[in-house]
Amino acid sequence: MLNRRKFLHLSALSFPVFSIKNSLHNDDTQTKPIVVSTWDSGKPVNTEAWKTLAAKGRAVDAVEAGARYMEGTLNCCVGLGGYPDRDGIVTLDACIMDEHANCGSVGAIERIKHPVSVARKIMESTPHVMLVGEGAQKFALENGFELASKDLSADARKEYDQWLIKSNYHPEINIENKKQNGPYAPNFFDDGSPNHDTMGLVALDSSGNMSGAVTTSGMAFKIHGRVGDSPIIGAGLFVDNEVGAATSSGVGEEVMRICGTHVVVEMMRQGYSPEIACRKAIERIIKRDREKAKTLQVGFLALNKKGIYGAYAIQKGFVFSVKSNTEERIIPSKYFFG
Ligand code: GLY
Repeated sequence: MLNRRKFLHLSALSFPVFSIKNSLHNDDTQTKPIVVSTWDSGKPVNTEAWKTLAAKGRAVDAVEAGARYMEGTLNCCVGLGGYPDRDGIVTLDACIMDEHANCGSVGAIERIKHPVSVARKIMESTPHVMLVGEGAQKFALENGFELASKDLSADARKEYDQWLIKSNYHPEINIENKKQNGPYAPNFFDDGSPNHDTMGLVALDSSGNMSGAVTTSGMAFKIHGRVGDSPIIGAGLFVDNEVGAATSSGVGEEVMRICGTHVVVEMMRQGYSPEIACRKAIERIIKRDREKAKTLQVGFLALNKKGIYGAYAIQKGFVFSVKSNTEERIIPSKYFFG
């Protein structure tokens, strides 16, 4: 039996570890509302989400609005302006998760402008979590979503034609100073500055509830039918309203192998700060295959119940955007390989 003396001794020994892990949790302050999103392109996404959060709306409405904003812009990595698969077809992945662990998701949906809203419709009006491909499109059309053109954007057409010349498949993502020349989505603008990848955002609303959403066109020039981590609950997004929420960007296969965002949230449940929780998930990817990890990018972004955020990536180059009542910033993530 544990007598009082032994108990005090053990408590004293264990206290420092506990207090380091929980150093960010020891005060009662809570930053809310707050929204954080992946990449610098998250700044206008946050602005859109903020309209709901500032009006004391629900986090789930805010993250859907933010994701829809991104889906409505023409860019390489999200929405119908995204780069196609190797057959020249744009397929989109998205998901959403609310404070009650309700979730909805679409994989490889074609010709629908707002997959995140299809995901929400699945969440709210079906007993399912995920619909894919033709079935997801059929569901969307039956529920009032319009069939968009299958034409590629001018930029996507140009990059796809360029890619067809060699048709290599080498999914590196956003490794700074290593400009891609066609095999994978160019994650850099022409001037060499880093472009971005998946849009993931998580928010804490003024009622103290958390939600998240993710949307992406996935890996450019992927095999037709490939679905990444983004629409997989626990990989590209996970929300636990008691603890926090996390999202990811980068090579989805590596995130799926470790159920990345679920790992991050569980680490936060154990008391780790969002940044350390993200780092622990990154370390798990690196531990599996260190040499491979050196050639690719994954970034995790997390927000805990107190409104504390943090991120960690394999490589330099991942950034995230934050908006609250006290700050609006784009912040470079810490990273493993310097
Ligand atoms: N993280 C996006 C993807 O792998 O599709």
